[in-house]
Amino acid sequence: MHVQGPTIRPRRLRRTPALRRMVAETHVVPSSLVLPVFIREGLAEPHPISSMPGVVQHSRDSLKRAVAEAAELGLGGVMLFGIPEHKDARGSGALDPAGVLNLAITDVVAEVGDQLTVMSDLCLDEFTDHGHCGLLTPDGEVDNDQTLAAYAEMALAQAAAGVDMVGPSGMMDGQVAVVREALDAAGHTHVSVLAYSAKYASAFFGPFREAVDSSLVGDRRTYQQNPANALEGVREVLLDVAEGADLVMVKPALPYLDVVRRVRDAVDVPVAAYNVSGEYAMLEAAAANGWIDREAAIMETLTSIRRAGADVILTYWASEAARLLRA
Ligand code: PBG
Repeated sequence: MHVQGPTIRPRRLRRTPALRRMVAETHVVPSSLVLPVFIREGLAEPHPISSMPGVVQHSRDSLKRAVAEAAELGLGGVMLFGIPEHKDARGSGALDPAGVLNLAITDVVAEVGDQLTVMSDLCLDEFTDHGHCGLLTPDGEVDNDQTLAAYAEMALAQAAAGVDMVGPSGMMDGQVAVVREALDAAGHTHVSVLAYSAKYASAFFGPFREAVDSSLVGDRRTYQQNPANALEGVREVLLDVAEGADLVMVKPALPYLDVVRRVRDAVDVPVAAYNVSGEYAMLEAAAANGWIDREAAIMETLTSIRRAGADVILTYWASEAARLLRA
């Protein structure tokens, strides 16, 4: 039977690769990607993280190679996480100028400081033997205000090591203001703050625990947000902007793309999203089983996070995505 075809045909703009490229609304570019890297004290060789195939705990040397590659690929930055040989209740290794993370900052700045934004996680969980992001009261509660004092000291150690941007990720109330004040009072007014503002108590951080050898008992639900709440995420972001955050972050990314969008619409600072360890592990596991086209799924994931409103993406695929974009 003959039908009168439609006059308006959206398919016309999908006909050729050049047309599709020309009208693409969203672009993933290497300069907006940040590679998170782990450095473990005392390692002679990089050590694989079994729940994150392809990701390692770096030795001092392998870290230098990884960040040099990131710079060569034109990434926006690297986010450093340190794993000390000895953990204690106060997370002392985080404050020690000769601690693994602070030394790594100096190494990375020397290697690629003129090409990449060098960022560091500002949190105690990698350094505490109990695995919490803060100091505990005698009853085992995470003590907000004592933790703030430790974060201020940690910020100063990282700034002294040469970091460009600190990432307070412990979800303590007032953490951005305290870090900003401490940095300014010590003359580090140029160090910027990437606030992990809307950070959820998420099952998708699972593989990260292995990545940082964390022995967390219990959970983080008294400080990280309830996955049920989006307005609260916006509230956290607005507080952090008022406290002086230069960028704000939503974390995890994929299960919270609605929050990324709300935050993008609510503030006028750059918005970052963290494509976390569990999101990485999930896709890699499906790909390893032959259930999903790995490279296509990686690029679709990053494109979707950008489309939701993220200006910057922290992702374990940062270097690989940059290579794919170049190809
Ligand atoms: C806290 C921190 C965590 C992650 C980044 N910073 C762990 C947590 O809050 O439980 C998780 C990152 C990931 O899962 O990829 N220092």
